[in-house]
Amino acid sequence: MLALRSRRHRRLLSFVAAFAALYYVISVLLQKKPPAISPLVFSGRPPTKLLAPRRKNLKLESVNGFFLQGLSETNQTAFNVFHADDFGLIEQEYSIFNRFSPGSSQWDLFQIELARMNQEVTVPRLGVRGYKVLYLFRPPESWHHTGEAFYGKESWDCLWTRQDGNGTAKFIDADLTPNGIHKAKYVHSLWDKRFGESGAAVPELFLSSPLSRAAETLTYTFDLASTPPPSPPIFVEYLRESFGVDTHNSRRSLTYLKKRFPLFEFEEDFSEFDPLWTSNRDETEESTLHRAKIFLENLFLRRSEAYVAIATHENVIKAILEAIGHRPFAVPVGHMIPVVVKGSWFKSYETRTEMEKVRMHYKRDRNCTILDPVTDPDAEPEEDDDQFEMMHLDTPDRHHRA
Ligand SMILES: *[C@@H]1O[C@H](CO)[C@@H](O)[C@H](O)[C@H]1NC(C)=O
Ligand SMILES: *[C@@H]1O[C@H](CO)[C@@H](O)[C@H](O)[C@H]1NC(C)=O
Ligand SMILES: *[C@@H]1O[C@H](CO)[C@@H](O)[C@H](O)[C@H]1NC(C)=O
Repeated sequence: MLALRSRRHRRLLSFVAAFAALYYVISVLLQKKPPAISPLVFSGRPPTKLLAPRRKNLKLESVNGFFLQGLSETNQTAFNVFHADDFGLIEQEYSIFNRFSPGSSQWDLFQIELARMNQEVTVPRLGVRGYKVLYLFRPPESWHHTGEAFYGKESWDCLWTRQDGNGTAKFIDADLTPNGIHKAKYVHSLWDKRFGESGAAVPELFLSSPLSRAAETLTYTFDLASTPPPSPPIFVEYLRESFGVDTHNSRRSLTYLKKRFPLFEFEEDFSEFDPLWTSNRDETEESTLHRAKIFLENLFLRRSEAYVAIATHENVIKAILEAIGHRPFAVPVGHMIPVVVKGSWFKSYETRTEMEKVRMHYKRDRNCTILDPVTDPDAEPEEDDDQFEMMHLDTPDRHHRA
């Protein structure tokens, strides 16, 4: 009787042991790895759904009060960032802590203040994701500018802007003119003078539109060839100018860019050939705004650098300013605008961000019926999908979450 009971007991024990072992093996096998957040994704789908905590959405807003450009009383027509002191940085003491830093330049104080603000990240209650300073550069004179001046606006917009060139000047993916290169080098000398001594607030991350003139701008402005940046500049698809019709806004192949700009690297899933440009339709403003927001979200969710130099274009700068609620501010050819952006979480029961609902469209509204039949409103487009799908950038993060 006793022997029987202990045998049963032993069997029960071995069952339990077997179950425990099985449970352990299964749980090890099924253990969820945290998603790997790629730091090299800036374009594609909005990243919030993938990277935000549950029921949280990211808010991005301009923090005004640091630069004159953000003040409503600044006259944008009369303002020249390269003539203004410290590129528009407002002279001020930010907080009592700064009073104890005698001999510091305004840039030093600014850097201390930004570091202090970024400490808010450590207080979860505040929901702060971080603060970044973006230096948004617009390329100086390029061949399409001279083309427009040479042919006049109508002839340019309706005819010549669609040509690869005119036999003398190359318009497709226009390069900087010698004058433009000279201007970029001049900006470098200004930049060097302002930041040379203090080293404060210099960019830690360099991002470029994949159009050649933007990469050239970054290269000359920061003399990247002789002073390599802390990490290679990155080509970002969504930083390109509004696409469609103008050949100067079409981009080169990855192979070409790699050969021409060996210092640069590419964001993940950068396609060999231009996936967005078409010869018969223009991108809408909403579409540009949409991808500017996607770019900003990625920047805040995937990168830790606080000071970011971005070479992009007129319409994208306009869209970024709108996306962060900065006042409109015209940035002339070859100029730059600095902005401070705060990223923070807000509670939202929506699973999708506001921007995920936006669809991008092309438009056909150039009044060019006489010079060019392609934009005749009655003409059939080459492809009949009026909406284009967002590039299907299936990032590794997405696979993890799925
Ligand atoms: C802004 O500056 C421009 C160019 O200097 C000038 O013509 C214009 O009157 C100014 N506007 C205001 C509101 O002061
Ligand atoms: C081509 O355009 C440029 C301006 O970009 C102009 O200087 C040049 O004269 C034009 N060439 C011809 C053959 O018209
Ligand atoms: C095209 O012409 C129409 C009618 O003249 C006008 O309403 C519209 O604003 C024009 N579009 C552009 C882009 O110039």
